[in-house]
Amino acid sequence: MGRVVTVGSLNVDHVTRVERHPGPGETILGESGGRLAGGKGANQAMAARAAGAEVTMLGCVGEDEDGRAHLERLTAAGVDVSHVRRSATAPTGRAVITVDAAGENTIIVVPGANAELAAEDLAPVDALGGGDVVLLQLEVPLDVVERAIGRAGRAGATVLVNVSPWAALAPEAVAAVDVAVVNEHEALLLADSDLVPRSVLVTFGAAGAAWDGTPADGVPVPEGEVVDTTGAGDAFCGALAAALAAGVERTEALQRALAAGADAVRHAGAQPDGEL
Ligand code: RIB
Repeated sequence: MGRVVTVGSLNVDHVTRVERHPGPGETILGESGGRLAGGKGANQAMAARAAGAEVTMLGCVGEDEDGRAHLERLTAAGVDVSHVRRSATAPTGRAVITVDAAGENTIIVVPGANAELAAEDLAPVDALGGGDVVLLQLEVPLDVVERAIGRAGRAGATVLVNVSPWAALAPEAVAAVDVAVVNEHEALLLADSDLVPRSVLVTFGAAGAAWDGTPADGVPVPEGEVVDTTGAGDAFCGALAAALAAGVERTEALQRALAAGADAVRHAGAQPDGEL
């Protein structure tokens, strides 16, 4: 059974529930949905851990209460955060999120300390080997992501990149990505780029996914049970990484990921019981 190392962001999600999202220039009323644990990196680390993997998180938070609470929460869940750096100069990252009555969200990320993650923070990646999985997203500096891809590949680990939020990584880095996970929108941008990962997994929300063109149905969730879609993609990626690290074959790994994504829309926030 391999390890999962997640390299990525840790945010505090400031959530507002709204009946519908406002248009440009419009003011509407909403109600507080709380201050919740978030950040694609942390969400994916928690999801991989919930799926049974041994997980190490690499990232950067501020020397503030938000950073402390985040690390405590991850530690309580069994995620190794001993290599997460505390920045003395930047606050913990935050995300401003609105969620409408249908559970659909808008997200604005203010990176804060996530932007201070550096190549020096990647040392645990070099100690990995075959069977281990490195899971990345793009809310930390792109050059660090590119370095992590190269170092993980040289160590013999499987490299999974959730190309979200979309950004064009260096072509030579993308060529070393074992699996790029993208949603429909990101898939179009990837297709329009000159970037060629070894394998592409496209997610279609509730409709399922396609891995290198082979489709798989989603796990249906009745409309009335969809509370919040925030973090569903992260739950998918975390569960997928955990399955691949456990040596599960591709079709079954995808099924587990789809099931985790479906489960994630049934609770408020990006992580289950995510209050900070
Ligand atoms: O994918 C959802 C996540 O995106 C949120 O938790 C938010 O923090 C942003 O990183």
